[in-house]
Amino acid sequence: MYQSHVIVPTFVEYGAADMGIAGKDVLIEHGAENIYEPLDLNIARCKLMTAAHKDAPQISGRVRVATKYVKIAQSYFASLGIQAEIIKLYGSMELAPLVGLADCIVDLVDTGNTLRANNLEPRELIMNISSRLVVNKAAMKMKNAKIAALLSQFEQALTNNFNSEK
Ligand code: PRP
Repeated sequence: MYQSHVIVPTFVEYGAADMGIAGKDVLIEHGAENIYEPLDLNIARCKLMTAAHKDAPQISGRVRVATKYVKIAQSYFASLGIQAEIIKLYGSMELAPLVGLADCIVDLVDTGNTLRANNLEPRELIMNISSRLVVNKAAMKMKNAKIAALLSQFEQALTNNFNSEK
């Protein structure tokens, strides 16, 4: 089982790994073909949000957005009827509004410290994110007994954890 960033859906999709753990953000952005997503592990919870400089006006009309979540950002702004020019960045998104590269960013927010440290503020929530267990579709059929047993162990662990937090 692999637990690493963007490579996880690719490994699981092509069957190089039968199972993996990936963030919902990565799964949506990657597009998860040939992958089942049977379990929300409820860990690594955070929010995918738009963020902008504190003094920046509310977004309307045309907007320039810096993000590594190109597909999600495109579909989010399209759903609002806002014309968005998306600039793909691979990291340090928060610098883009500071140097005038973009009007806003789309990025993960947890504590908000990264935004605050860069004079940015969270604006709109796009979606809540958490880690998901993913399974290759063919493996789910071919190795059903093994995978079902593992899934039930994960489910049990989640239930135990939930009960101990009550
Ligand atoms: C994420 C995100 C922000 C930060 C937000 O980066 O891109 O930079 O966490 O967290 P905060 O609200 O608690 O400050 P991450 O540390 O996952 O690294 P990455 O940018 O390399 O994915």
